[in-house]
Amino acid sequence: MNTLVALCAIGAEKILGNEIKYLGYKLCGNAPGRVSFLGDDDALYRANLCLRTSDRVYLLLAKYQADNFDALFDGVYNIQWQDFYKKDVKVTVDKVRTYKSKLNSEHSIQGMVQKAIYKKLGDKWHMTTLPESGDESDVRIYIDNNEVLVLLDLSGLPLHKRGYRTDGGIAPLRETTASAMLQMMMWRRKIPLHDPFCGSGTIAIEAALYAHNIAPGFGRRFALENLCIYNKERATKIRRKEAENIRTDVECRITGSDIDSAAVERAKLNAEHACVAAGRALQEIGSDVRIERPDFVQADFAELEAPYESGLILCNPPYGERIGDAEEAEKLYKKMGCLFKNFPAWEMGVITSHEKFQESIGKHAVMLKDLKAGNLETKFYMYSDKLGTKHQNSSKKPDDRKTTKR
Ligand SMILES: C[S@@+](CC[C@H](N)C(=O)[O-])C[C@H]1O[C@@H](n2cnc3c(N)ncnc32)[C@H](O)[C@@H]1O
Repeated sequence: MNTLVALCAIGAEKILGNEIKYLGYKLCGNAPGRVSFLGDDDALYRANLCLRTSDRVYLLLAKYQADNFDALFDGVYNIQWQDFYKKDVKVTVDKVRTYKSKLNSEHSIQGMVQKAIYKKLGDKWHMTTLPESGDESDVRIYIDNNEVLVLLDLSGLPLHKRGYRTDGGIAPLRETTASAMLQMMMWRRKIPLHDPFCGSGTIAIEAALYAHNIAPGFGRRFALENLCIYNKERATKIRRKEAENIRTDVECRITGSDIDSAAVERAKLNAEHACVAAGRALQEIGSDVRIERPDFVQADFAELEAPYESGLILCNPPYGERIGDAEEAEKLYKKMGCLFKNFPAWEMGVITSHEKFQESIGKHAVMLKDLKAGNLETKFYMYSDKLGTKHQNSSKKPDDRKTTKR
């Protein structure tokens, strides 16, 4: 059994935990922005391929006490690094985080860990210098209260980089954040969804992936694939199994609009990429079914009318940080009050870092959650009557998948 650690946005730990449990793995701890779980060897690939709200997945290689550099070195040296790496690997200790620990110089820790890894590899392979001409591998170190965690990166590029968004425009939302928002709103595929500030289309595209049960990682590769522990045959089986789980029989009403016609074109193109990647996965199992694309149109949000009696509006309007200024954003939020009138029975979820959002839109959210999107301190405002009661005990399953083949 392996211990894995999945990272996520601070505020999304519970949602990520539910996703992990849904994949069948047992949670074994969490901390802000990370969830640990136990999984078999397949979990190494499956977690990367399937988790929607995780930014990275690590394999925990060692956990031990160290309050001095000798102990730190020994713990890292004792790991059988040669079992993971090829002889031309280039290892980087990409991040060190310390908290309430005697060892707290991140730079020195980084150097010592790097030294211990290379010493072990050199001793095992009887080499004084390694060529470092091959694949790069990242190692991360956490030291909390003198307890060291040595983590091996299995993801490579962060998992929000699904591969479908070739052009994100000025202020795209992270795909993982969009997915967390959908899950926090307890959105289900039968509910119409509209993003009136769609930009590059992230929210609608993530909704489409979720609705059709498409694993978000189909369009990319993972750092795991460069390691000796990677089992290509198993990975192919996992991909095929996930392709079989794609729901091609469901109809969804997922749409987006934006005032900027260039943004609309970007959204269409990105959605095309996402659906093509899913289509390729389907082809691997001999299916040529076409995945329905979300619809995007150019429109000012103030002119929209509800196309259905009920549904969900989910969006990240300009915050006044990367687009416009704070005052302009406030004016826009004031105007956004019309959405409550024009979409009367719809639920709404809005993410923004602007502190005067509620005051400006003129309505208090039923639920408010800190949900960090990138480097910004963003909050997620949820307007939905169902959340007050059900949301507190959000179901174990991230979606209503009674009819899936799993
Ligand atoms: C923060 S971006 C949305 C980013 C998007 N979620 C993504 O992932 O790419 C805000 C978007 O709101 C759009 N916008 C600004 N004013 C608008 C208006 N009055 N009506 C509709 N869209 C508007 C901008 O063109 C921009 O694309």
